[in-house]
Amino acid sequence: MTSKSKKRAVATEVDQVVTCDDEASIASFANDDDESFFQDIDVLQSHGINIVDLKKLKSAGICTIKGIMMCTKKRLCNIKGLSEQKVEKIKEACCKLDTGGFLTALQFSDKRKNIFRITTGSQDLDKLLGGGMESMAITEAFGEFRTGKTQLSHTLCVTAQMPSQGFTGGKVIFIDTENTFRPDRLRSIAERFNLDQNAVLDNILYARAYTSEHQYELLDLIAAKCHEECGTFKLVIVDSIMALFRVDFSGRGELSERQQKLAQMLSRLQKISEEYNMVVFVTNQMTSDPGATMSFQADPKKPIGGNILAHASTTRLSLRKGRGENRIAKIYDSPDLPESEATFAISAGGITDSKE
Ligand SMILES: Nc1ncnc2c1ncn2[C@@H]1O[C@H](COP(=O)(O)OP(=O)(O)OP(=O)(O)O)[C@@H](O)[C@H]1O
Ligand SMILES: [Mg+2]
Repeated sequence: MTSKSKKRAVATEVDQVVTCDDEASIASFANDDDESFFQDIDVLQSHGINIVDLKKLKSAGICTIKGIMMCTKKRLCNIKGLSEQKVEKIKEACCKLDTGGFLTALQFSDKRKNIFRITTGSQDLDKLLGGGMESMAITEAFGEFRTGKTQLSHTLCVTAQMPSQGFTGGKVIFIDTENTFRPDRLRSIAERFNLDQNAVLDNILYARAYTSEHQYELLDLIAAKCHEECGTFKLVIVDSIMALFRVDFSGRGELSERQQKLAQMLSRLQKISEEYNMVVFVTNQMTSDPGATMSFQADPKKPIGGNILAHASTTRLSLRKGRGENRIAKIYDSPDLPESEATFAISAGGITDSKE
């Protein structure tokens, strides 16, 4: 037996657990009483919507009933070939399938039981995050250069594939805006966890985005891909979310347009995370705050993206350099985590606990 064949084969495990017609796996994400979770829009045919119009929706990345419910009529009308009348009819048909109204808090808490967490590779960092990176939410990590944002992204690409308590493991989509994605880094990380390296790489879909528009268009592909292989993808990474927006929009004159486009993109990401129960991890850069020196602020640097990004990210993690390979993470904003800190380290095998 070669050393390679002794390794755990991630891909086959993943493929077995999550094929589209494997009802058990779908049930693990979707509640029985929430049948619309992955419900294909094709069911609308029996409600009088014709297949050509359904195709138009799909080409715009809207593939599930939930996906339609998450879109405004205005956005649907903007899809080529869909008139206001047709949109009205589609919305009406969806309402019959998904009331989209109130749940009791108890029902909602049942729904949240589908949420899973992906380990970061460091137990201390996981603890800080309440057990790892949470699905159905956007987690943002920001910090100066060399603080480990890209290293954390790479580590998550691998750990997302490892089954753990209550989590089956799954595939990953990586959007790279800075050309810093390195498959060889993934190999060393896979080796640390004793995983089959090629299988790990084979489970990651990679796209290099060159403009902010391209970055946005890729989200349609993500939605289509997630729908095609429903339940297979567990993690979407955008490293980094702001880099291209910074280039494409310059100066104060274009700021409001930039923020508007950014808001659309983040709202799309947020919906994808909820619609397909996925972890969305984005990295962000920092800028010096010119007003800060005047106000004697302790930390004159702040994440870019303004209020739009601040409100879209569910959990914001601030990273800074510690001694040597150590890095310090701090919860900057979260709906349910206290503002505390954890130290982790960057190693050849990715993010790990600090030895200090
Ligand atoms: N194979 C490796 N083994 C150990 N440490 C590594 C390895 N590769 C990179 N590093 C460390 O990771 C750090 C770089 O981290 P990373 O690329 O994640 O930064 P970043 O926060 O993404 O920065 P930027 O803002 O420039 O994108 C460097 O300090 C480098 O020494
Ligand atoms: Mg980076």
